[in-house]
Amino acid sequence: MDAELTALLRADLLAAGYTVDRLRQLWGDEADAALARGDRVPAGRALRAIDESPAATLARLFVLGETVDDTALARALPALGTAGARALGLVDAGGRALLDLRPYTAIDAGGAVQWLVASDLGELALGGALPPDHVLGVGGASLTLAALIPTEPVDSVLDLGTGCGIQSLHAARHARRVVATDISARALERAALTLALNAVDAVELRQGDLFAPVAGERFDRIVSNPPFVITPRRAGVPVYEYRDGGRVGDAIVEQVVRGAAEHLTPGGTAHLLGNWEYHDAMGGDGLARVRRWIDEAGLDGWVVERERQSPAEYAATWIRDGGTRVGSPEYEQLAAEWLDDFAARGVTAVGFGYVVLRRPVGPDAVRLLRTEVLGSPLGGTPTGIGDHLLAGLRAHDRIAALDDAELETLRLEVAPDVTEERHYWPGEENPTVIRLRQGGGFARTIDADAALAGLVGASDGDLTVGEIVGALADLLEVDEGALRAQLLPQVRELVVTGLLSPATGSPAAG
Ligand SMILES: C[S@@+](CC[C@H](N)C(=O)[O-])C[C@H]1O[C@@H](n2cnc3c(N)ncnc32)[C@H](O)[C@@H]1O
Repeated sequence: MDAELTALLRADLLAAGYTVDRLRQLWGDEADAALARGDRVPAGRALRAIDESPAATLARLFVLGETVDDTALARALPALGTAGARALGLVDAGGRALLDLRPYTAIDAGGAVQWLVASDLGELALGGALPPDHVLGVGGASLTLAALIPTEPVDSVLDLGTGCGIQSLHAARHARRVVATDISARALERAALTLALNAVDAVELRQGDLFAPVAGERFDRIVSNPPFVITPRRAGVPVYEYRDGGRVGDAIVEQVVRGAAEHLTPGGTAHLLGNWEYHDAMGGDGLARVRRWIDEAGLDGWVVERERQSPAEYAATWIRDGGTRVGSPEYEQLAAEWLDDFAARGVTAVGFGYVVLRRPVGPDAVRLLRTEVLGSPLGGTPTGIGDHLLAGLRAHDRIAALDDAELETLRLEVAPDVTEERHYWPGEENPTVIRLRQGGGFARTIDADAALAGLVGASDGDLTVGEIVGALADLLEVDEGALRAQLLPQVRELVVTGLLSPATGSPAAG
């Protein structure tokens, strides 16, 4: 990649005001929504009506995949010029883009960012199925993983399977140095352009399979949206490098989990997305398998299952993702391969979710091996879940170190994002249902009885847990010992999930 030409391209893109907000302003909200559905027609019509704007030309070329003539190209990239654009491999002789180049915006604890991301042209611009070596742009899974990266600063980060480089951009905001790996040389080329266009130089790119490029090295944080899609190893089934790591079933997720143990510094954490299979034949469930991988690797782990699909749903999701229309003969052929593979390996369902791992600091640390199935869908891309889970790990450390007698001496506070919902039969004085709702984090909903709701309601940092339990036992006229046995484990759970926290100044406060 020519550094001088890339710098000219960067200057042109910045001068054109090629940002997410500017494009939305140019094509309008309806076209924006249509694009999100994979329909480029409204955006194309809007942009052609104003094509003297450099940002409009750039979007037609690099987002919509339209052909642009040399006059318009020269106007849109005045510093780089048409010859420079061709030398950089941005456009072909006929004025068609050879890659996808689009603005991206995000907000995290460090504030808002505006970046430029290079990847391969997608289905919408290509007008057909993707080639096997396609380099994926920023998709829903990328945004989810970005939200799973904590914002607490660390020294070093490994971005495993960097693709277009999006996670490295995020990771570099909170790290002194980042090593980004990928098996695909093409992906690394795109990532290099992404990093150069954003003047991010703390990222080192290395090519190779999984952890091979970082053998013997350890990092404070590992982030990965690995190529976890389960693909039948059968002739005729397309293999996409961006989503398929070349292993059988969910073995790639197992390898990433186990491999993390060799590459984390003590206390270091890994933040991953993954799929896990449920196997009848093994008599266990998918989450139990992930838990076993983590346990055997000697790591702490918190696994959150966001979704579970049947084999048929899973096959349909990923066959469609490759650009094959449901109901077409190709679809039916592929679906049969997928279902045969699942049946042959005894797979009854596939879970999807988040995995956070931590290398324990020392042999005395109380291990955390937690699996959780989200009760309610998150609704859209989650935000801030990396920081939330990190806070959960720390809360676990504090609370697990206390025995029940010590726990009773704590003063707790209910988190400001917790609300309570009560449902009554008409005319009844006592609620039939009490629910505690978490506003942030995983937006958990907890069914509570009068005792738990009373304890949470009284947790304002004034009384200790023990005092509240005693008062509730009197009020509810129940045995205090039995109430303590019920409530103390529930208190531990609410502290780990962030609904309660030790009051400032109390011994276990963070
Ligand atoms: C799902 S994409 C994730 C891209 C990007 N990190 C993101 O979050 O959008 C997975 C990436 O892993 C890469 N990959 C596939 N097989 C791999 C392997 N065996 N070792 C390392 N990387 C691999 C692919 O080339 C692809 O870039």
